[in-house]
Amino acid sequence: MSALNHFGLDIGTHSIKAVQLGGQTTRPVFIAAGQVPTPSQGLNSESEEDVAIIAQTIKKLHQEAHISTDKAVTALPESQIFTRVVELPNLSDKEVQSAIQWEAEQYVPIPMNEVQLDWQILSRPKQKGSDQKVEVLLVAAPKVLISKYLKIIKAAGLTAVSLETEVTAVVRSLVQRVEGNPTTMVISIGASTTDLSIVSANQISFTRSIATGGLALARGVAQELGFELDQATEYMKTYGLDATQLEGKVMQAIKPIFDVVVNEIRRALAFYSGKRPDVPVKRVVLTGGTAKLPGLVLYLAEALGLEVQIGNPWEGISLPSQVSQKLIQDSTSYAVSVGLALKVN
Ligand SMILES: Nc1ncnc2c1ncn2[C@@H]1O[C@H](COP(=O)(O)OP(=O)(O)OP(=O)(O)O)[C@@H](O)[C@H]1O
Ligand SMILES: [Mg+2]
Repeated sequence: MSALNHFGLDIGTHSIKAVQLGGQTTRPVFIAAGQVPTPSQGLNSESEEDVAIIAQTIKKLHQEAHISTDKAVTALPESQIFTRVVELPNLSDKEVQSAIQWEAEQYVPIPMNEVQLDWQILSRPKQKGSDQKVEVLLVAAPKVLISKYLKIIKAAGLTAVSLETEVTAVVRSLVQRVEGNPTTMVISIGASTTDLSIVSANQISFTRSIATGGLALARGVAQELGFELDQATEYMKTYGLDATQLEGKVMQAIKPIFDVVVNEIRRALAFYSGKRPDVPVKRVVLTGGTAKLPGLVLYLAEALGLEVQIGNPWEGISLPSQVSQKLIQDSTSYAVSVGLALKVN
């Protein structure tokens, strides 16, 4: 049990979300939340001016949402970091520390002196001296990315207390708060990316990021039906994958693009079941703004042959009645920021 005294800040490519919880990790209490559209250049731009615009937007969100602490915990986008589960011989923690460096060099495509390495032991063999492997989750984040985030937070007049990955945050808010879960795949579909993770025995044991999200689907609708992007986005949100609407035209525009994501999901499931046949994935938890796409739950359940549900980050957190409707409506967008707000520092 730990007291919560910071707020979670999720800087997405479509919108920036902030959530502040109080009380204890085991019994969190809602304090404040809000979201604002991300300025058009987002975090892709390197210019000082664009960084200042993002910082101003965060500052405004912090004020308007009435967040009462300056301490921020934020998330690095999965698409820009390197996460991998590696298996090592049954080494001591100290030995793991040096083996990790070597492991990271094998798969991180940028020089080791340009990344910050972080690792966490997922499982150890029960018996000492056993020839079973130690499973380690390795995270390598480019130092330039970290300094960019720290710079923005500072420019917004806030203090960065820690940084973690989006998947770590989402898994905390949607899966880990309940004990005894079956092996679960979490699919987080934002505007630009879809992040996959598999959680077994309540620990992350696989992650992957795919460069397709709601924006690509809306572009597909715009192209197929000859709409402007804004109008196409509205059609996508209204009709989604529902084949009975508009003679299935919107669905037909979205399907080929979304099926690329579905294929990646299938590949991830196949990879995982080959590696861990003992703990098959039993269910899918969906999140991210695009998880609200009409017909998506059914479509995925049929395509994957698994139980699919939409995750609720507000589970167990009572919301004040004057804000609850909006927050529940946008719940899929808040999964990352709730997870960040729940982090124990
Ligand atoms: N009802 C809906 N149906 C389908 N898509 C929706 C709906 N509502 C919002 N979206 C889409 O959700 C996306 C925004 O979601 P979210 O807030 O999770 O994105 P983000 O975190 O900013 O993006 P990313 O994590 O990819 O950087 C947009 O593409 C938006 O069009
Ligand atoms: Mg996001």
